[in-house]
Amino acid sequence: MPLIDPENIPTNASGNTTFNEIVARAQARRGFLKTGLGLGAVGFFGMGLSACSSSDNDDAPAPGEEPPETPTPDAPLLGFQAIPASTGDDIVVPAGYRSAVFCRWGDPLVNAAAAWKADATNTAAEQTLQFGDNHDGMHFFPLDGETSTEGLLVMNHEYLNPEFFYPPTVVPGGAGWDLEQIRKGQHAHGVSVAHVRLVDGNWQVVIPSTYNRRIHLNTPMLLTGPVAGHPLVQTAADPTGTLSFGTVNNCGNGYTLWGTYLTCEENFNGYFGTTTGADARDASQRRYGLSATTSGYRWEDHDTRFDYVQTPNESNRFGWIVEIDPFDSNSTPKKRTALGRIKHENAAQTLAADSRVVVYMGDDQANDYIYKFVSDGKYDAATPNLNRNLLETGTLYVAVFEEGAATGDMMGTGRWIPLRLDTPKTAGGTLADDFADIGELLVHTRLAADAAGATPMDRPEWVTVHPQTGEVYCTLTNNSGRAAGAEDDANPRANNVYGQIVRWRETGNDAAALTFEWDLFVLAGNPNAGDGLVAGSANITADNTFNSPDGLAFDKYGRLWIQTDGNYSNTGRYAGQGNNQMLVADPQAGAGNGEIRRFLVGPSGCEITGITWTPDHKYVFVNVQHPGEYGQHPRAAGLPDPEVDPLAFSKWPEATGGRPRSSTVVIWKEDGGVVGS
Ligand code: FEO
Ligand code: CA
Ligand code: CA
Repeated sequence: MPLIDPENIPTNASGNTTFNEIVARAQARRGFLKTGLGLGAVGFFGMGLSACSSSDNDDAPAPGEEPPETPTPDAPLLGFQAIPASTGDDIVVPAGYRSAVFCRWGDPLVNAAAAWKADATNTAAEQTLQFGDNHDGMHFFPLDGETSTEGLLVMNHEYLNPEFFYPPTVVPGGAGWDLEQIRKGQHAHGVSVAHVRLVDGNWQVVIPSTYNRRIHLNTPMLLTGPVAGHPLVQTAADPTGTLSFGTVNNCGNGYTLWGTYLTCEENFNGYFGTTTGADARDASQRRYGLSATTSGYRWEDHDTRFDYVQTPNESNRFGWIVEIDPFDSNSTPKKRTALGRIKHENAAQTLAADSRVVVYMGDDQANDYIYKFVSDGKYDAATPNLNRNLLETGTLYVAVFEEGAATGDMMGTGRWIPLRLDTPKTAGGTLADDFADIGELLVHTRLAADAAGATPMDRPEWVTVHPQTGEVYCTLTNNSGRAAGAEDDANPRANNVYGQIVRWRETGNDAAALTFEWDLFVLAGNPNAGDGLVAGSANITADNTFNSPDGLAFDKYGRLWIQTDGNYSNTGRYAGQGNNQMLVADPQAGAGNGEIRRFLVGPSGCEITGITWTPDHKYVFVNVQHPGEYGQHPRAAGLPDPEVDPLAFSKWPEATGGRPRSSTVVIWKEDGGVVGS
């Protein structure tokens, strides 16, 4: 949760109906929960997973992928002892597991890099050769395609905490604020490509390595696809509208079958403001949530491309998914505009029945939407170079969740609306009435989805596809902006402080289908704080209670790993939930179906985000983002300001380090087994 956190403020004024405004809803829902049949233990998925996981030919692995070992349907997937919630300042993992820290913010990435300075006085130039800040989405690419001891660990750097990132004499918009400090911040965003190797049981960054690379907010990249060259992305610095400068607020990630990395631009709006003092935003800039006047980052003070009045099209060049070839450190990253411009969380790729590429994506804002992209071309393992342009052209769809046969049962049906010029608007006419061409439509993706009648969701975060069944799971992290009376079957609580995970199965198990069935896998809640909708679904207990599921990924065996970025006050509605954490769920039919166990608890003030495995699944890498960010935490009362004592709230990862640092944590099982088993 960043310092400037606009995600809980809905900017969606479309008035799209929350499909389920029917009267007896609340009563029906209470009845369902009272049965004690947990979400996840009932419904079509409970039956379907059993059928799909063992014998259905449709669950064949994607071309070029190792077929995963299919677990015995009745054997629970979770083999570790759950850990309790905790409020300490350390990484806690289950008995029989170990963890280690590396790739900290500021650690050198190349030989020539300066050492990290604990007083935060590294320069902008030095930051370009060091790991960035606020680690997020991440993927491990085995160096030779299969080894589990050496690879490229590619990770996002989402944002920064000025109170830790700068010395106390530097305050955005205030004392010591100049272009050098802005550049330093810009260079801490983006992506790190780190060559890593397992040496004598320790994971290390290989330095020097020709693979190691930093991509940041001043790295040249291409705008490709339908928006390339469009007048809406032309600026004085780039009159062609094809050459973009850098990437920002790199949140979740994805990876492709052809070995590239996808970094997803989320809250780009927070970096734009104006020094003119007046709100001059147009409708699209308001819909995307640009600051009316000054931004929190105050880059507009000394870098005019972030002043939306002086450089009105610059913000249109962010909000995209960027494709990076991690194996070629000289390659130019490409913004893939066909995938739409939203506040991208992550990108989950799979294949349609006919081998077209499908990418699922969430737009993380209160009452925003879930999308999928379907490529025009087909994936063919035999033509690797052709695959590299599959994200260039295709159709973007947005999801409608409908109540289905019954109301109040937290399951239903859905459909995908294509965002094309000929798509009907709910108000009559077509999207061609609002957008002159597909480029303009994609720049204003949110406006097109509003007009087409998409379903407002409770902040869609990460999406992940089940490796055997193809079913798709998405975290809806929370939504304090859901008004009473606007609840629906998929978003069943007003002022939703806990969040839920929705899942769907495409018709015919074809990811390119235009319809689907859905249910809620879990309604997060807190039995310590109340019952009914407060307590959550039956697979939530006083032991595993959590709020705000965010990071989400299946391992290759079908375990569902859930990471949280929520309220860690451990009081009131959050009593007993402790610090942000990572849990593992078993969505497989059989004895363990629906069970969720806590696997990891993070240090004070952090969120846990980003997850990837070595191919043998003996090591899992996760990121600890913004340790020490205490916000309104009750324990922070009476502590010195972070500028006075940066270690007052968290000393992680080391008490002598001078300030808390986002870092990567690698976890393994002492007996050398598969993590989670
Ligand atoms: Fe960057 Fe929605 O989390
Ligand atoms: Ca329903
Ligand atoms: Ca997130």
